Amino acid sequence: MNVAIVAELLRRRIGLDPLSLGANVLPHLVAQRMSALRVDEVSVYAAILADSVAEFEEVVEKLVVSETWFFRGGKLFPYLVERIRRAATHPVRILSAACSTGEEPYSLALSLVESGVPREQWELEAIDLSARNIERARRGCFGNSSFRETPLSMRRKYFHEKADGWELDESIRNLVRFHRGNILDADSIAGARKFDLIFIRNVLIYLCAEARTLALDHIERWLSADGVVCTGHAEPINFTDGRFRTVGPHEFFLFERRPVSERTTRRGRVSVAPRRRSNSRPASSPRVPATPLPESDLLIRARSEANAGALETALATCKTHLSTAEPSAAAYSLLGLIHRARQEKAEAEACFRKALYLDPLHEESLMHLLLLAQESGDGQSVGRYQGRLARLSQGGAS
Ligand SMILES: C[S@@+](CC[C@H](N)C(=O)[O-])C[C@H]1O[C@@H](n2cnc3c(N)ncnc32)[C@H](O)[C@@H]1O
Repeated sequence: MNVAIVAELLRRRIGLDPLSLGANVLPHLVAQRMSALRVDEVSVYAAILADSVAEFEEVVEKLVVSETWFFRGGKLFPYLVERIRRAATHPVRILSAACSTGEEPYSLALSLVESGVPREQWELEAIDLSARNIERARRGCFGNSSFRETPLSMRRKYFHEKADGWELDESIRNLVRFHRGNILDADSIAGARKFDLIFIRNVLIYLCAEARTLALDHIERWLSADGVVCTGHAEPINFTDGRFRTVGPHEFFLFERRPVSERTTRRGRVSVAPRRRSNSRPASSPRVPATPLPESDLLIRARSEANAGALETALATCKTHLSTAEPSAAAYSLLGLIHRARQEKAEAEACFRKALYLDPLHEESLMHLLLLAQESGDGQSVGRYQGRLARLSQGGAS
């Protein structure tokens, strides 16, 4: 079934790259919805989807990946607490964009309360595309999987056991303002309010390139002059968007605005300029400047181990490299190759996608994704990757 027309509608309205969910998810869902509505033609269904708010929301709720849990990112939260405590001006305004069911903003609220940072020093707001997620976030009742990184003592202290899960104490629930919002819609944040810290974690990876740029346009607009953006580990925006550069310890994926004087353009869009240190930050700012890591030779070692057939060792070396260095397309592509050699197709595909996220022109990763798509008989993806490779070889953007 050719669902391109539906994919295009989703891409325009919510930025979703349907392939990021796997090749069969959208066709399967469209088939299900067509059967529920007794519709035979994809084009007829697409027209219904375009016109009906209820149908569109139904589909969005089925497509969004809502996986999240408390204290995701481990030491990130104590680190942020200290930054907020030492911030030059208060209150520090924080936005959790794409907050899912609320675990992310609640984790920060819990950490701040637990660390005794006065309530007047911070404000927390959270948005998500999914109405159901926002409803669940407000209700604040969570199942066991939300607590995979939560100390039991914390759960005992702040949650009450109910028939359907653990309910967060009302005193903490009242600390976060939730509302529905689309990061592709500039009006999701009303007025000229600015945030000093914006979480945008584990959502950019599901968006197509244009939507990522648009989302980051809005994030930049909502960010205060010396604000910080926090992304997921597979979404280092400094690689794909020249407006941002790393700040603070690398493992936390924090970014600040790159000064305009350091931005350059590539293929008509901003891209990463060579890193320079700026002394323009006010002395009162608590921000820790980024320290460039030395070039790791672990990647070279991992490649030669892989070439020698020592796949187990190569895998470990490559992962060590990725845990200590800034993520790169080269590292993810090599990890993908190692997984491929180990017959771990899903893992390989995920790595090549990450490599492409970091560098949309990474030819080797495109080649391998094409091969994987061919192997699994996914004709639609084969065509897509072939097109991208052809454009690449003609010197165009992929
Ligand atoms: C995987 S969850 C991430 C939750 C949390 N940020 C984390 O890292 O644990 C992705 C969330 O992004 C939301 N989302 C997807 N597209 C969005 C959009 N265009 N605007 C706002 N939220 C969106 C989904 O509804 C989902 O709740």
